[in-house]
Amino acid sequence: MTAFFDQLFYMKETNFSTKATVYNDVSELTKEEQRLFENAIIARNKAYAPYSKFSVGAAILLDNGTIVTGNNQENAAYPSGMCAERVAIWKAGSEFPNMVVKKVAITASSTEIKVDKPVGPCGACRQTLYEYEFNQKEPIEVIFMGETGKIIKVQSLASLLPFSFDSSHL
Ligand code: THU
Repeated sequence: MTAFFDQLFYMKETNFSTKATVYNDVSELTKEEQRLFENAIIARNKAYAPYSKFSVGAAILLDNGTIVTGNNQENAAYPSGMCAERVAIWKAGSEFPNMVVKKVAITASSTEIKVDKPVGPCGACRQTLYEYEFNQKEPIEVIFMGETGKIIKVQSLASLLPFSFDSSHL
């Protein structure tokens, strides 16, 4: 990071880019990723989303092959609810404290609308997932979709969070 800020001293502007791969169908993903999405869909279908009617499922692949899933858990006191991604990553972190995460697959559906465009993780979930990526020093791929439609894969949480905040700032 020091080198980057040194550069800023000499340059007025800089650009960041995020590489994203777009797939037309899950059949274009690897078998392992297809299995991850199967698990994410099962989790999504068990979401507790009576208020938004928007169900999200997340499936996390660990480097030992274990898949840990989560879904959104809403609450009558709306802000007390939680997103699928954070339910999944905290479930994984609490069960496997020294885990290395390889990939996260996310899918969303709704009983009210057609979710046919990719649903990426919200900002708070990006930050939460990034904590684990930063600690493990290995990128976590994020693959996300709606219920149908295109699928997007990005190579890391860092690529979704320019100027991210981590423990090195403390
Ligand atoms: N939601 C997630 O589970 N993950 C996201 O990344 C975005 C939003 C949930 C939260 C809430 O239960 C519902 O979707 C509508 O916002």
